[in-house]
Amino acid sequence: MKIDILTIFPEMFTGIFSSSILKRAIENECVKIEVHDFRSYSLNKHGKVDDTSYGGGAGMLLTVQPIIDCLKSIPNYQTAHKIITSPCGKVYHQQKAKELSQEKHIIFLCGHYEGFDERILHYIDEEVSIGDYILTGGEIATLAMVDSIVRLLPNVIAQESIEEESFTEPLLEYPQYTKPAIYDGLKVPEVLVQGNHEEIRKYRRFESLKRTFERRKDLLEQLILSKEDEFFLSYIKKGIKQYEEIPKK
Ligand code: ADE
Repeated sequence: MKIDILTIFPEMFTGIFSSSILKRAIENECVKIEVHDFRSYSLNKHGKVDDTSYGGGAGMLLTVQPIIDCLKSIPNYQTAHKIITSPCGKVYHQQKAKELSQEKHIIFLCGHYEGFDERILHYIDEEVSIGDYILTGGEIATLAMVDSIVRLLPNVIAQESIEEESFTEPLLEYPQYTKPAIYDGLKVPEVLVQGNHEEIRKYRRFESLKRTFERRKDLLEQLILSKEDEFFLSYIKKGIKQYEEIPKK
């Protein structure tokens, strides 16, 4: 996969792309990433890339010329999938990451300031937001998307982890613990230490359902419930917090 990023803050990408899994993916040629500073395409002698809004209003908007000249300098930009980051876009999610991981070439344009000249959208395929909050610019949004796409590419992380994810239900993960069994008086749940596999499975299912019920009721609505799930949920809805409090069937 080839990824091009258009930004006025190219230095924001250097740390992330030279660390951890992204660094390895680039070194192993699973992905080629190029960052372009579109300010250097400005025809203005001071390198200006923004201007005031027609019709008035506070704040500056990104102008069309530097961005589109930069875009057109990228080989095969016409056939690439072109995304602009913006809080007005469709909200990003894992299914979208999976779809984008199938593309050969993606171009990200990082939005900035109070927004951009609407005519930029004429050259772009879609506007994407990473969530209902406002960032100072699109760089962090682009980084989040690039990270989530690259980890899905072949040979970047263990294939089993990805395959497992694709079968996972719309449920939050249960809590996990590692050694030591007691830290500062805080104990690992007894059921996990005892090692009865069927009890551990039930405990984890209960905890996943409880977390999802407490934090993400929207996900729970998409879940196909087994008889056991309905049984656990009936207790969770009554306010039961601990798996051990549920009467054994
Ligand atoms: N730019 C500012 N806020 C953003 C968001 N939530 N998603 C994408 N780009 C943004």
